[in-house]
Amino acid sequence: MSFLIITSQKDPKPWVEALKEKAPDLDLEVYPDVRDPKKVKFALSWKHPHGAFRDYPNLKVIASMGAGIDHIICDKEIPQHIRITRLVDEQLTKDMSVFVLSLVLEHLRNLAEHHCSKEWNPTAYLRPEEVQVGIMGMGVLGVGVAEKLIQNKFNVTGWSRTNKEILGVTKYHGDDQLKDFLKDSRVLVNLLPLTSETRNILNKHLFEKLPKEAYVINVARGEHLVEDDLLEMINNGHLSGAALDVFRQEPLPEGHPFWNNKKIRISPHIASTTHVESVIPQILKNFRLMQEGKNLENEVSREKEY
Ligand code: OXD
Repeated sequence: MSFLIITSQKDPKPWVEALKEKAPDLDLEVYPDVRDPKKVKFALSWKHPHGAFRDYPNLKVIASMGAGIDHIICDKEIPQHIRITRLVDEQLTKDMSVFVLSLVLEHLRNLAEHHCSKEWNPTAYLRPEEVQVGIMGMGVLGVGVAEKLIQNKFNVTGWSRTNKEILGVTKYHGDDQLKDFLKDSRVLVNLLPLTSETRNILNKHLFEKLPKEAYVINVARGEHLVEDDLLEMINNGHLSGAALDVFRQEPLPEGHPFWNNKKIRISPHIASTTHVESVIPQILKNFRLMQEGKNLENEVSREKEY
């Protein structure tokens, strides 16, 4: 029974080294030089080449190298019986929370604008207690961000598919409550999983329901956002700007209109990056659970797509 590392966009080397150190007896294979495809039962993956899993007839589990699993699920050739797991890691949550907090604070103090204007122009600013931040997506990362913002005195609301109680967060759920959730969100943070339901959810119709001069932060997936709608709503003044860490095409192509828009803050998908050493134990644990025929940790629902 072997363990495969398969990625087209991450360097497999640190993963190989960490796995060898923590589990020296592991029968490790690294795509594409796989000695015996029939022995592969467990695959650790990030953006695998689509169709590649066809070659592993005995594969049982695909573990994502990140918090998201959309890069796996979107390969429709993966048979339904294969189970998929995601990473849930305290460090990932901490990094995401600090990143979002820093973007919100930077926005409230107009730091980018002051720098770019090259003018000495002190402007008024809002304090955290005067600002409502709406978080779309109340999974582990959404809750972590909510807690960090609450600790820093922001008013926080959350919107998710199901109704969950979260201390200090005014909760909205389902399509019926989306409008109420949006109407006072001066800052909107997207942390939804990417599914068929949430693809393109950040569009003109949603932005119109935000208060005037709202600010949008997307730290989930580029495919949540209709890029032209964002530009239109920034250009017509309805939105005051946006901070984007994720894009439909990554790296964001040279010449993309986002690069030259002073109201758009761009970062290269760095909100929360997997720390290999920190996540290896949970990956090896799931490998063991699979061998023992037990329930896996952080398994996702193929039906819900997260
Ligand atoms: C992830 C990511 O899903 O880095 O972990 O986007």
